[in-house]
Amino acid sequence: MRIEPFDPRHATDREYAAAAAFWNTIRSEFLPDDPPIPLEERVQGWRNIPPFVRVWAWSVWEPEGPRIVAVGNVNFLDKEENRHLARFDIAVLPEFRRQGIARRLLSSVAEVPRQHERRLLIAASHGAVPAGEAFMRRLGGQMALADHTNQLDLRDLDRDLLGIWQERARERAAGFELGLWEGELPEEEIEEIAAMFEAINRAPRGDLEMEDEHWTPAQIRQFEKQERARGNESWTMYVRETRSRKIAGWTDVAWNPNRPEILQQRGTAVFPEFQNRGLGRWLKAAMLDKVLRDRPQVRYVRTGNADMNAPMLKINTALGFTPYRSHYTWQVDTEKVLDYLRAREVAG
Ligand SMILES: CC(C)(COP(=O)(O)OP(=O)(O)OC[C@H]1O[C@@H](n2cnc3c(N)ncnc32)[C@H](O)[C@@H]1OP(=O)(O)O)[C@@H](O)C(=O)NCCC(=O)NCCS
Repeated sequence: MRIEPFDPRHATDREYAAAAAFWNTIRSEFLPDDPPIPLEERVQGWRNIPPFVRVWAWSVWEPEGPRIVAVGNVNFLDKEENRHLARFDIAVLPEFRRQGIARRLLSSVAEVPRQHERRLLIAASHGAVPAGEAFMRRLGGQMALADHTNQLDLRDLDRDLLGIWQERARERAAGFELGLWEGELPEEEIEEIAAMFEAINRAPRGDLEMEDEHWTPAQIRQFEKQERARGNESWTMYVRETRSRKIAGWTDVAWNPNRPEILQQRGTAVFPEFQNRGLGRWLKAAMLDKVLRDRPQVRYVRTGNADMNAPMLKINTALGFTPYRSHYTWQVDTEKVLDYLRAREVAG
């Protein structure tokens, strides 16, 4: 097996094609009903990784063959907060598992947090692929957060509820107004939008040793550029207090024409001083109304929620969202991973 560095921003056509095929195979294990992601969308996503994301990756190639059989990558965000952590992802094609390939990739991956003095590693596994959990436990990882992709089949949606929630908002949230940004976020309001995104820090993070995240307008623009390059079209709905002009909360969705039936509902958050006025319900109902009107191709709406996020789940469950896929987020001390690798080296 050959292990080679993979630079996602500047790979060759051959590397991109092999990596895209690899990730589609891995993806089909936990999303078997979804269409594969086209090569061009993947390549645009890689080429446009925001500059503040520091990323290292390696591919393991089949001997003599054109196939990538395993990938390891590690990244961290070059920002003020969370300077203690890095995220990694290792995946191996099913027929090449249990041969020590992930361990080999891990020894490259773990060098990065060691050199950059990041003491904590974070990774995710899928409920549908228990090997990921076994691997993380073997490294001494702690399961820090359980979440689900929850899905709403729009054919099961109680459409009357959308009307009722929006009607009720007229009374409960008198003094607030609804707004919408389609596509690129407006330059005049970008500072305010960066502050608006802070509300997502209210979402529970379980036992994850993570600080609140903050976004600068420049970082938001970099993300938008990547989203656009991948072909994602996004809508952001917000509610504003009319008197103070303050944004109280928002929800945003992304849709990609390569998967016309699926819509991703990304964040929804309301600031604490505005909670319990039905703003969250209003936002979700108004957005679904717009989806039904303007994106009739969409059949499924998906959203990721921590299992412990009772307020969000209450709204989603009432709308008809049901658990679709489970995920776990793991954390493990970099030092623990290095100890494991050293012990295996001695044993080997
Ligand atoms: C998790 C995954 C990367 C492991 O790859 P792999 O090449 O089979 O793992 P390795 O052979 O290098 O095993 C490394 C260690 O994990 C253990 N392990 C791996 N899979 C295991 C399983 N299914 N059950 C029990 N232990 C397992 C191995 O026994 C080994 O321990 P050892 O050092 O004591 O021998 C692979 O199953 C995969 O691609 N899963 C999908 C992606 C994923 O969930 N990644 C995890 C988050 S980064």
